[in-house]
Amino acid sequence: MSIIVQGSYIALIVRYSNVEFLYQVDSGGGVVNRIETPLGSIIRDYILAHGPITFREFMAQALFHPELGFYSKGPDIGSIGGTFNTNAMFPAFAFGLARAVEQAEAMVGEPLRIVEFGAGTGELGARILSFLSHPHEYVVVEASHGLRRKQEALGLKVFENVEALGPAPSFVFGNEVVDAFPVHRVMGDGRGNLLEMYVAVDQRGCFTEEFGELSTPQLSSRLASERVGLGRGHIAEVCLDIDPFIHGAASIISKGYLVIIDYGESSSALYHYTRKNGSLRCYYQQEQVHDPFDHIGDQDITTDVDFTALEAAACSAGLGAARRVWQGPWLENLGIRQFQPPGVDPKDVNAQIEQLTHPARLGSTFDVLLWNTSTISNAPGFPIKT
Ligand SMILES: C[S@@+](CC[C@H](N)C(=O)[O-])C[C@H]1O[C@@H](n2cnc3c(N)ncnc32)[C@H](O)[C@@H]1O
Repeated sequence: MSIIVQGSYIALIVRYSNVEFLYQVDSGGGVVNRIETPLGSIIRDYILAHGPITFREFMAQALFHPELGFYSKGPDIGSIGGTFNTNAMFPAFAFGLARAVEQAEAMVGEPLRIVEFGAGTGELGARILSFLSHPHEYVVVEASHGLRRKQEALGLKVFENVEALGPAPSFVFGNEVVDAFPVHRVMGDGRGNLLEMYVAVDQRGCFTEEFGELSTPQLSSRLASERVGLGRGHIAEVCLDIDPFIHGAASIISKGYLVIIDYGESSSALYHYTRKNGSLRCYYQQEQVHDPFDHIGDQDITTDVDFTALEAAACSAGLGAARRVWQGPWLENLGIRQFQPPGVDPKDVNAQIEQLTHPARLGSTFDVLLWNTSTISNAPGFPIKT
């Protein structure tokens, strides 16, 4: 713990599990308020002027506010050294995806445009291109302007949304993209109804949660379509952004594949009563933390993906049923063990492959959902050999 004098106030920095929390204290030593980030102040002032906002609106601002949102600032996502490993930090993962593209082209019988949604720093895309035996058109669709700059600096062609792209034979994919979509939060009231969580500001100026009527009937329709009922106090996240995203992705594939790699569950598991607090969590300086009202704009916020909603959206977009498998067996099937980069210690290469494929590591953390257009019957990495 340390104390600093900053301008006109005294601040207390409390360090807990490697994460710093900043509090404003009064002259008697009492905690007055948690000190907000500039984005926290902007959102608080907005709520004071206009009233409570849905959690979805709050999360969209926290992640994608044009200047101060976590992603808009262009963070170094997936950098080595943190507590958590992500796929994109391992070159072997890019090798696996390059193999998937090559197999997809062999199956379709013609070159495919590669489209990556939500490319983070762009390193994964640059690596995939380096592992392909001939040049490809590689297009990124990226919501964050800060990350778009990083991706462009690596030579990638980048667009803000799919509208600039026409349909073409394509291999379209997104790694850990859907888990970053803003979500509504709802709660069962014990009488068979749903309430929605709004973000409000209390009398002390602190963020607080309030429950009220649903902001849109789509929330109850979604859960009803998945035959999900929430008991009293059961909180669940609902991501309505999935539908326009999948429809947009499907619209640019005249022939080819859509591959989504992410953590999540089918709705029956995601919304099971044993998960009655939902799956929302935050990451600050490589540590998992739980309060979305801390470090607003400086921390990532994420939820588990509703795979049932993804599959329903793909079905209505004309893509049909998904093939779905854990990432580990898919990468094994694609031939990830042939990854032998020159000048790298084989032990390090093997460690990367184990991280990505072992069921106790990322091999089962991530699922692969793959759709093909109706003109093709086979798919890269499938069928899975047992
Ligand atoms: C968790 S990061 C993953 C980044 C990268 N794919 C990786 O694996 O390291 C989520 C990425 O998706 C982007 N993103 C979120 N929503 C998006 C959307 N609707 N369209 C395109 N990109 C989006 C974010 O800006 C960010 O680049």
